[in-house]
Amino acid sequence: MSCLSRRAALGGGLAVAGAALLSGRGFARPAALPPRTTAPATGERRLSLVAAERSARLLGPERPATPVWSYGENLLDVVRIRLGETVVAELDNRLPEHTAIHWHGLRIPNDQDGVPYVTQPPVKPGERHGYRFTPPDAGTFFFHPHCDTVAQLGRGLANVLIVEGDETAPYDADLMLTLKDWRIDEQTGAFLAFSTPRGALRAGTFGTVRSVNGGPAPRLSVPAGGDVRLRLLNADSTRVGDIGVEGAEAAVIAIDGNPVAPFSLKDWRLGSAMRLDLVVRAPAAGKEARLMDFFAAEPVLLATLAGEGEDRPRRAFDPAPLTRSAVPEPKLKGAERLSFAFATASTRKTALAVAADDDPLAAAMLDSLCAATTTNWTINREAWPAGDHSRLPKPLALLRTGRTYVAELSNETPHVHPIHLHGFTFKVLKSSKRALPVHFADTVLLTPKERITIAFVADRPGDWMIHCHLIEHQETGMMGYLKVV
Ligand code: C2O
Ligand code: CU
Repeated sequence: MSCLSRRAALGGGLAVAGAALLSGRGFARPAALPPRTTAPATGERRLSLVAAERSARLLGPERPATPVWSYGENLLDVVRIRLGETVVAELDNRLPEHTAIHWHGLRIPNDQDGVPYVTQPPVKPGERHGYRFTPPDAGTFFFHPHCDTVAQLGRGLANVLIVEGDETAPYDADLMLTLKDWRIDEQTGAFLAFSTPRGALRAGTFGTVRSVNGGPAPRLSVPAGGDVRLRLLNADSTRVGDIGVEGAEAAVIAIDGNPVAPFSLKDWRLGSAMRLDLVVRAPAAGKEARLMDFFAAEPVLLATLAGEGEDRPRRAFDPAPLTRSAVPEPKLKGAERLSFAFATASTRKTALAVAADDDPLAAAMLDSLCAATTTNWTINREAWPAGDHSRLPKPLALLRTGRTYVAELSNETPHVHPIHLHGFTFKVLKSSKRALPVHFADTVLLTPKERITIAFVADRPGDWMIHCHLIEHQETGMMGYLKVV
């Protein structure tokens, strides 16, 4: 079947995934996730993260190299730790501008959240900064800077963080696939401008070269007939993928690292920062399956899975679920209501004219690394930085520690926005447009004019960012924070 007729047969994406879910997930195992039975690990994991410019051959071995930024010798490196281990990370900034590390999706204390001026001072060139926390959840996460993100992430500054310890039965393989586009001049290998006024006002400025794990679509040998865990991360600042598998059965087992009762993958929209864990039944020896992005007019191959070795015995595809996480369950009865409207800015505000005093928060307003001087987008009619404020803008909402909040996220624009909340893993309850499975996430894609209802327990105090993860939208206003006291 061609890709187009496959799409037609699916009848339009997520609606089908949802419907399949509602009428039974297609698997024999019960929907309730099993509890963890093994004790968490202990001890410390030391990470030395030297943020610096390095050279990478993103265009191929014979082509000019690109001056990427990375945290070590390996671009988009994958760090694996065990649930229970304490991360002790040292950032050594050898870049020409300040930076910091945001641990995306990790439910850790606010002072470790890595947002310059909001949760920590920026780490200046030549400075070091330590982070220390114990991730409370297993899953697929990543970390990246939080100022000048369009350029720093655009140059490659991000690593994957996998917290192991969520499997009930080990899969036959566990592979990480990081999707990212690069804006490179194909003649010289140099970076192109990371943002354009036109892109920032619309669906973002797309890369010129796509990559998976920093290279062309890989061919992965997988144990024939085995159950393979594929962890996908969209580390791009702009592109939304529509992930599907051809030639093999596939199930979703986790969303943004959060386990779900396995359900059949039809296709899944993966916006910036979103993760998806799949189990794919590997093809027989000598056969192939393909991981695809169907979003583009011409479907794009992301990876080929080649079955190799002795075929595993034939059996029904019924993937083992992951264990239940420790994310607090929102208590919807009596919950407080919030609403966030994501919209375009009605008037174009220009650069801040703020007198710099010795207040670091006022300085943040003048620090062009942390927000662009153009305002294209707003949350609840406010843009960050909010026009003439001489301090951090007011929080979008004031929350009380320990309470459950139900929030309606409404997209008043004709563009998609992957909306990310720091610190709290939220439950996606429903959409006004699509049959979405109820699931936990830290980033949710708002399609044009869509309203999505989420709920979460504000269980840790602090100033927690909420923003669009389409980075040009974030940096031109679609960013704010919630104050939990
Ligand atoms: Cu992945 Cu506030 O970011
Ligand atoms: Cu957006």
